[in-house]
Amino acid sequence: MPCILPEPRRITFKEGNWRKSHLSHFSRDVRIGIHAPVGWRGPVSWLQKGLEHEQMFRVEDVSPEEADIVFEKRLPSGSLSGPKDDLLMLGFQNEAYRIEVTPDRILIAAASAHGASRAVASLRQMLSGQRARLELPCFVLEDEPSFAWRGMHFDCSRHFWCVDDVLRFIDLAALHKFNVFHWHLTDDQGWRLPVEGYPRLSDCAAWRDGTMVGHDCDRATNPQDGIRHGGFYSHEDIRRVVAHAEARGMHVLPEIDVPGHVQALLTAYPEFGNTGLAPGVRTCWGISPHTLNLEPQTFEFLERVVDTLAELFPFPLVHLGGDEAKTGEWMESPRIPERMAELGIPDVLGIQPFFTQRLVEMLAHHGRRMVGWDEIIEGKAPDASAVVMYWRDSEKNDHALDRKALECRNGLVLANWSKTYFDLYQEAGPGRDFEPLAICGCLTLEDVYRWNPLARYPEALATGVWGAQAQVWTEYIPNRPHLDYMVYPRACALSQVLWRGADREDFPHFLSRLERHLPLLDRLGVAYRPSFPPPPDNTSQP
Ligand code: ACM
Repeated sequence: MPCILPEPRRITFKEGNWRKSHLSHFSRDVRIGIHAPVGWRGPVSWLQKGLEHEQMFRVEDVSPEEADIVFEKRLPSGSLSGPKDDLLMLGFQNEAYRIEVTPDRILIAAASAHGASRAVASLRQMLSGQRARLELPCFVLEDEPSFAWRGMHFDCSRHFWCVDDVLRFIDLAALHKFNVFHWHLTDDQGWRLPVEGYPRLSDCAAWRDGTMVGHDCDRATNPQDGIRHGGFYSHEDIRRVVAHAEARGMHVLPEIDVPGHVQALLTAYPEFGNTGLAPGVRTCWGISPHTLNLEPQTFEFLERVVDTLAELFPFPLVHLGGDEAKTGEWMESPRIPERMAELGIPDVLGIQPFFTQRLVEMLAHHGRRMVGWDEIIEGKAPDASAVVMYWRDSEKNDHALDRKALECRNGLVLANWSKTYFDLYQEAGPGRDFEPLAICGCLTLEDVYRWNPLARYPEALATGVWGAQAQVWTEYIPNRPHLDYMVYPRACALSQVLWRGADREDFPHFLSRLERHLPLLDRLGVAYRPSFPPPPDNTSQP
């Protein structure tokens, strides 16, 4: 029985099957006809790619009467109300969909193109592995997500990933019904976004002379590999990525991380820093002490960055970082007090809120809203248009900035360090010695699956949580097999947490679903982490 992951809400099987088969394995004599509303090119082309390249059928646009697969724009009856107004204004769509398979045809009803993309993800999973001879049992499937924001973040700074790797990352995320691709484009170890008028971003800030071997804890004694590493995405590359994501019903949230995490930038343009010196693009991990200064040319540069992002990325939200900006340089620089006085910043702790406010205004100029890591809400609450990504969820050190964001009615996206950082180890204890090098801690498949994102919030506040996302930081992830190992199957677990919310099957049932899902990942060449406890001996549920 084909299996769908994340688990769909309702599926009822009926008598009979839908079949489509060529007369022989070598002929291509039978075509599949598709009919879809105007404007649904994205989901249709995604389905078509699968049918042509995996299932080996020729696909044609045809009239509804002739079609084997009909898409219809309509809100499936009985579906929930969809995203709230603030999210609808940001381009989030009602993702409810219904698939009805009869012996004659497949009918897909969806309220929006993104709903149609989720239906295509389900169909692609069900048809995967079939070639030249297709068969589906007849069924009615009704489905929709619990959380509007279901994100996957990807750090393309610590290690540079070529466009094909990025497209594949998006493909796999879309297949699991994630709908936001958070693209971390800059950090201390490499700047990946060209900005007109600043050629040294691509000539210098995009490259480092080597990378530390081993763990950052042993920085003092670890050797460097001495291999030049880096790269950047041309604007054409970026447009390709955005179009690829959009065709799969995913928003692309770009991130430029300021005013900390800028060591690569300051190597190319030391005039934006506090020391006047080029620190060198960072070749080890950890938090850099370097930050932006408060000079006019720095803000002029940031304006050009924001202009560039607004031109390349259609999503109304733009992430401008804000995490881990150390105050040391600001306290020591002789120019900072002068500039603070000129700008009316009362103390050093006011510098970060000042940056946030200026960035919020720059984005507002383009009709965009800022997203930032939870540091942006520390101290003075920022403009309510700023969206908070909550990551510092340590029990020991509870800043409660998530609750503050909810109380201040800033949008809140959960990126809890202890539940969604896929750069954490997947084993505690002695088993960890057999794991590839990772940043720290332990986050097992079961930990991800058992996470209740809303557990911390009273009901009145919980409605303000937009959703959550996985973080894929790549300090310790240098290549594709290692990436797959860290992300899958933990992303499968998170997809189900976010798609189904509290109303999801228990962990043993999830494991048995996963067991039936893994052949799909095998066919796609995903080098997922294979070992987890065997599932109990059940179930025939799809
Ligand atoms: C972060 O992990 N510094 C957001």
